[in-house]
Amino acid sequence: MSDFSSRVVRWQASHGRSTLPWQNTRDPYRVWLSEIMLQQTQVSTVLGYFDRFLARFPSVAELARADEDEVLGLWSGLGYYSRARNMHRCAREVMARFDGAFPRTAVELATLPGIGRSTAAAIAAFCFGERVAILDGNVKRVLARWLGFDEDLASSTHEKALWNLATGLLPPADRPADIASYTQGLMDLGATVCTPRGPLCEACPVRLDCVARERGWQARLPVKTRK
Ligand code: ADE
Repeated sequence: MSDFSSRVVRWQASHGRSTLPWQNTRDPYRVWLSEIMLQQTQVSTVLGYFDRFLARFPSVAELARADEDEVLGLWSGLGYYSRARNMHRCAREVMARFDGAFPRTAVELATLPGIGRSTAAAIAAFCFGERVAILDGNVKRVLARWLGFDEDLASSTHEKALWNLATGLLPPADRPADIASYTQGLMDLGATVCTPRGPLCEACPVRLDCVARERGWQARLPVKTRK
């Protein structure tokens, strides 16, 4: 059996999503905008907002020049308005600190307002091919189930352990072209196959050695108690 990452990469090529408007681009402004919008909002809702936002603010420079009220107006209906306020602040910092060019590493990206570790890694992997792990809600579920990781992710110690395991599963360093499709493949597996309830295990490329599937733990994992 081939390793975890190559199965995810192959699945992404044949079954993953590949025609969304923020895919097939390495423009960090578009990727950043889409990742922030997708944090708490589903793809079907984001599509219309993404197009309207880009039409009004085609570049980070134009977003930085805008009034906050206009940014919030374009966000109206998406909810979680701190995302929009942070985006506006982030655009201004990209202009002031980085001369209008998004930094190219996850570590630097994560110093910007509203960009957490996983979003930073997604932008760095998609746009700059950096070999870094993502771990958003969907990916936590995929990895916790496949690994049989049954520690409580409400604990930062255990969350850190899962980050380290995620890093260990990345495509090998001598296959840099795989990092973007691997990253997108994990997101798409979590969204379309390894769903919170009723996962479609028969359609999963890593089902044969999935610990949750073997033990019938799909409904138990990931473990996340309220803090
Ligand atoms: N959710 C977060 N990022 C995503 C992406 N790049 N594609 C699809 N769903 C996502």
